[in-house]
Amino acid sequence: MLGPALLAAARNDGIRRFVSAAPLTRPVVDRFVAGERLDQATAVAAGLAARGLRVTLDHLGEDVHDPAEALRARDAYLALAEALGRLGLGERAEMSLKLSAFGQALPGGHDLALRHVLPVVEAAAAAGTAVTLDMESHPTVDSTLAVHAELRRRFPETGAVLQSALLRTEEDCRALAAAGARVRLVKGAYREPAEVAHQARREVDRAYVRCLGLLFAGEGYPMVGTHDPRLLAIAEAIATRRGRPAGSFEFQMLFGVREAEQRRLAARGHRVRVYVPYGTDWYAYFMRRLAERPANLAFFARSLVSR
Ligand code: FDA
Repeated sequence: MLGPALLAAARNDGIRRFVSAAPLTRPVVDRFVAGERLDQATAVAAGLAARGLRVTLDHLGEDVHDPAEALRARDAYLALAEALGRLGLGERAEMSLKLSAFGQALPGGHDLALRHVLPVVEAAAAAGTAVTLDMESHPTVDSTLAVHAELRRRFPETGAVLQSALLRTEEDCRALAAAGARVRLVKGAYREPAEVAHQARREVDRAYVRCLGLLFAGEGYPMVGTHDPRLLAIAEAIATRRGRPAGSFEFQMLFGVREAEQRRLAARGHRVRVYVPYGTDWYAYFMRRLAERPANLAFFARSLVSR
């Protein structure tokens, strides 16, 4: 019941101001966010890499409605690409971004986002790494997949994200698996209507398994983005059945979530990539993490009263 309310709150400016100003919010946010500054994020990335994990860094930002802000997002990612070049981890440290931070929701937003993201993808390639386009709520999916297809003409390593919650996703998996793309499969973090999305968790999980089957049967590089123990075990079993060597797919999890499992999978010889968000615009990301797990909310509430 709480999940939908928290997802609605993630888009409410009044609640955003209240939660962001609460002094005790910060320690809880720190569990999920690597820091506000680029140097803090690259330090976390270097630490995770030293422990054998890969990273994808996300400069937090989304739902931009001001053209100047879209330019600032581009510049933040150009700075990140440069920092990753200096770090020298190659594709072990890549970047994830949301096209809505690059102006996708502005008038002419599709072309604008493509224009802003292109130099970032070029800078990533120059730094020896790549970009994955996060997937946002369902009205953006066609545009995001079209930008992805366009970017892949010159930068085939550019990744996409597909959400098993959406009814269309099995079709999208078929299309992308055949094209040999890097595809991160997730359940989906947005509240979506019944016309376009499975509503029951059980249905989302079943769809996730069907999508895993499609991606592992194809030519592409599946990126299994989940913390769900059942789905992780099923992905491992499918990979074994398909004779997939360890370097032909990877697991991905969020910074601060199931860290022991991240290390366990890596110790079993799997590639594991941690999604590391940083920056000042953490509110919507943080609320989605609370919505995913009531225990996080209890943790947050406890921190508010146990001063
Ligand atoms: P589920 O929510 O069922 O969780 C399974 C178990 O994992 C829980 O029981 C708990 O133990 C643990 N867990 C999960 N979430 C937790 C949390 N927040 N805090 C603590 N424990 C937690 N979504 C999207 O729409 N677009 C995107 O681009 C991305 N990108 C992305 C990248 C990566 C690397 C990951 C892992 C996830 C995303 N997501 C996403 C989010 C995704 O859609 C989904 O909301 C979350 O991963 C939670 O779903 P699970 O598959 O982990 O299962």
